[in-house]
Amino acid sequence: MATLTPWGGRFEGSVDEEMLAFGASLPVDLRLWPEDIAGSMAHADMLAKQGIITPRENEAIFEGLKSIADDLRNEALDFELSDEDIHMAIESELVRRIGEPGKKLHTARSRNDQVAVDFRLYCLHAAFEMADMLSDLRLGIVEVAEAHIDTILPGYTHMQKAQPVLLSQHLLAWQAMFERDINRFVDAGIAADASPLGAAALAGTPHPIDRENTAEALGFNRIIPNSMDAVSDRDFACDFIYAAAMTMLHLSRICEELILWSTEEFGFITLSDAYSTGSSIMPQKKNADFAELVRGKTGRVYGDLIGILTTLKSLPLTYNKDLQEDKEGLFDAYDTVEACLSAVHGMICTMSVNSERMLEAAQGGFMAATDLADWLAARGVAFRDAHEVVGSTVLYAEKQGKRLDELTLEELQQFSGVFTTDALEVLDIKRVVAARTSFGGTSLESVRAQIAAVKAQIESSCDDCDE
Ligand code: ARG
Repeated sequence: MATLTPWGGRFEGSVDEEMLAFGASLPVDLRLWPEDIAGSMAHADMLAKQGIITPRENEAIFEGLKSIADDLRNEALDFELSDEDIHMAIESELVRRIGEPGKKLHTARSRNDQVAVDFRLYCLHAAFEMADMLSDLRLGIVEVAEAHIDTILPGYTHMQKAQPVLLSQHLLAWQAMFERDINRFVDAGIAADASPLGAAALAGTPHPIDRENTAEALGFNRIIPNSMDAVSDRDFACDFIYAAAMTMLHLSRICEELILWSTEEFGFITLSDAYSTGSSIMPQKKNADFAELVRGKTGRVYGDLIGILTTLKSLPLTYNKDLQEDKEGLFDAYDTVEACLSAVHGMICTMSVNSERMLEAAQGGFMAATDLADWLAARGVAFRDAHEVVGSTVLYAEKQGKRLDELTLEELQQFSGVFTTDALEVLDIKRVVAARTSFGGTSLESVRAQIAAVKAQIESSCDDCDE
């Protein structure tokens, strides 16, 4: 069966059915229908203002597009898969509904600038949605930090106990990753925020169009000055997927910690039942399945990034059909990040924190050793020598099966005559934490200041969004 194509005039034969299906993107780009309709309405309005179509034709186009949008919203319209893409599907439906005026909509436009408009509008909104979700997650993490503001747990380097820190400090480090992700999404949004409409196929158009007019109507901040660049640039999509990949990277790091912390060996947290699963064979099991799945899904978003970078590599100007492959990965990245943000938000906000277990773990591991060395250094011992003294003290304590704070003054003095009873006080883990008063350190005041700063920053960025 011959299928009608928009280029029918030039062809004597019809395209192979299998190839038509191969070339179609409708199942993927269907989700661009709101952007496509907005773009077409703005284009038709401009054509009317410029006297290229009549006001009546514009009105008919507007009504037709509006009725298509209503039907799509109410799921009352199913496109046939014989339509190559969302642009052709809407245009053919428009012509079916309003006849002749529908055929004028495509004057001074090509699907090359049309698809770029749709995709840019989508990315722009999607980037700000991602930034909003990330802000919510940051706020959620800050709330958990406030609820456990003075809980102490071990801080690690090389996965070995290093120095005790506040759980709130640790959680604030998590949210800091998302602040950077927000900035990346905002930058991706700014990159998308330029109108390619009016570039037509690649070279512009002889029709007296007004590109400023359509850019403004669609809410774009600027127009892309070069028509060839306008139809071939997809950097904004790479920026978006890169931001998504970085977000997944951060989510996977956090999930890794949630998984470790919920093991019996750590026992720092218990994930709520709503965010855990059991085993079909081992009745005792409670698995951090969803945290693992987030960690696993990071790979697919990296794949989306490599996919688009590879599609664009070596692509000559201007539009090439390769570019049709730009959308699926971005949509996948969006859906994946959206689902993972929501999962991690839920996990963190509902987990229970086993503060006693954390403190107990922080008492071990000789984590006051640095403070003991600092104590000597403050009393004139060269830090390198102090390090050596405390190293030997730790070795001794380890052999005795004692913690540093269980050593007597006499035992300490075997290693340095400088030690006095004052030295024993710095071994208290709470004091070790409280002593980290440097800017950004883990003392309570520093954490409180960080919380206040994060909240103020998120609030002020929300005010910016409302404006
Ligand atoms: N479905 C195409 C895409 O997503 C739309 C643009 C097609 N343009 C063309 N000249 N074939 O890239």
